[in-house]
Amino acid sequence: MSKTSRVVIDLDVPGPTISRHLYGHFAEHLGRCIYGGFYVGEDSDLPNEGGIRLDVVEALRALDIPNLRWPGGCFADEYHWKDGIGPKAGRPSMINTHWGDVEENNHFGTHEFMALCELLGVDPYVNGNVGSGTVQEMSEWVEYLTRDGDSPMVRQRRANGREEPWKVPFWGIGNESWGCGGNLRAEAYADLARRYATFCRNHGDNKLYKIAAGAADDDLSWTEALMKAISCLGCGREPKNIFQAISFHYYTVAGTWENKGRATEFDLDDYYRTIIKAQDVDRVIRGHSAVMDAYDPERKVGLVLDEWGTWWDVEPGTNPGFLFQQNAMRDALVASLHFDVFHRHADRLVMANIAQTVNVLQAMLLTDDDGGLVLTPTYHVFEMNKRHHDATSVPVHLVERPAPYELDGKSMELLSASASVKDGKALISVSNLDPSSPADVVLDLRGADIRNPAGRLLTASKPQAYNTATDTAVAPVPLTGLEADPRGLRFTLPPHSFATVSLGLV
Ligand code: AHR
Repeated sequence: MSKTSRVVIDLDVPGPTISRHLYGHFAEHLGRCIYGGFYVGEDSDLPNEGGIRLDVVEALRALDIPNLRWPGGCFADEYHWKDGIGPKAGRPSMINTHWGDVEENNHFGTHEFMALCELLGVDPYVNGNVGSGTVQEMSEWVEYLTRDGDSPMVRQRRANGREEPWKVPFWGIGNESWGCGGNLRAEAYADLARRYATFCRNHGDNKLYKIAAGAADDDLSWTEALMKAISCLGCGREPKNIFQAISFHYYTVAGTWENKGRATEFDLDDYYRTIIKAQDVDRVIRGHSAVMDAYDPERKVGLVLDEWGTWWDVEPGTNPGFLFQQNAMRDALVASLHFDVFHRHADRLVMANIAQTVNVLQAMLLTDDDGGLVLTPTYHVFEMNKRHHDATSVPVHLVERPAPYELDGKSMELLSASASVKDGKALISVSNLDPSSPADVVLDLRGADIRNPAGRLLTASKPQAYNTATDTAVAPVPLTGLEADPRGLRFTLPPHSFATVSLGLV
């Protein structure tokens, strides 16, 4: 039996801008994300430019990706950038001890990453090495990338074939410094963050937005230590302008780290636990925001969720250190509900990066070495939500909705929604998270007249459905049955589905 929900949307009540950077991405030297995913080398038979796989670029360009974080992750804190410049034959190799204990030949380095960013049309987000790198090394990387004129690093860059400096807006000061990035205590890292950030200079008109490495999940004490390092509680002074944002990481791990469960083989309780865990990101963001509000009530310091997404057991037969997992309709719903939460918190949450873009964790694309390329269900959520980029969020109230589902003493909302307006149009995203029942939805649209409503739907025969090179089980189709209602619009969503409705505003 279907359940009717009424969603009130105030189209004329502007909320914060939804930064396009909430739709950011992450590419680490991990498994087949860089090598075999983005980068196949100039000698590959696959169409490439400078070794960068062009079908991957083309598929990702359709998402209007705003930024790409690189080179890690845990890898960032053992990466030494000078090993990845100059003629490839002369680049030293290293062992990627975090991810598979495999040899890294450094063929994809700074110039290749910047070329990838240019092909994708994205802003680079470079994550520097605090854990095993020096202040000088990080400072020189910034100089190499962004300085014009004449200087030691500029001369090296030019000798390596790049005349002009690049623009690098985003800079990470280490990664997970409480763990793989050095096992530091919060106060110790806070001091290092201040020190490293100090020597990451703004060269010319390149202004770095420096992001301090933040907490795991809801470790609010880590966030507080970083806020204390640049601000004071209730003193009314602006935070010191040393770093401009603090990150945190939140993964949807439905089971335990030892037994995370399979991406495509799960039962209904696994499904509910996953959605419950994903919805909890709202509480976690609220927690970090509340701590930051106490030190920075004017919200000058940004909150950045630079790793998020589902994390399952690796696919059988694959290297456990490569984190290769399939991606099902359930993953798409995890993404769609994250975006609803992100839109609600757009006044503090300024950037988010899904982990990761290709072949690792909750990927957009799965590739093989023979030229196969699969668009995952998650890919389609990013594509369907594109009009939210830099749009104005508007309030959404689930005035009537199905009773939350209860499991293990936790509750799960069965419907999720968000909306934004931009250039005389609105985009409304709605997810029916109920795995078994359709949802009748009435959009109670207030504050504007509407015209030309059109909807798109992403669903599948079951939440376990996924795409392969030979079988596309999950792809968007037109949303049929969109009807005028005295309040606005009405439609029915099938179980486990995601829809977007676009409207002209009069
Ligand atoms: O995304 C995979 C890993 O997860 C990253 O390297 C690390 O930062 C996190 O623990």
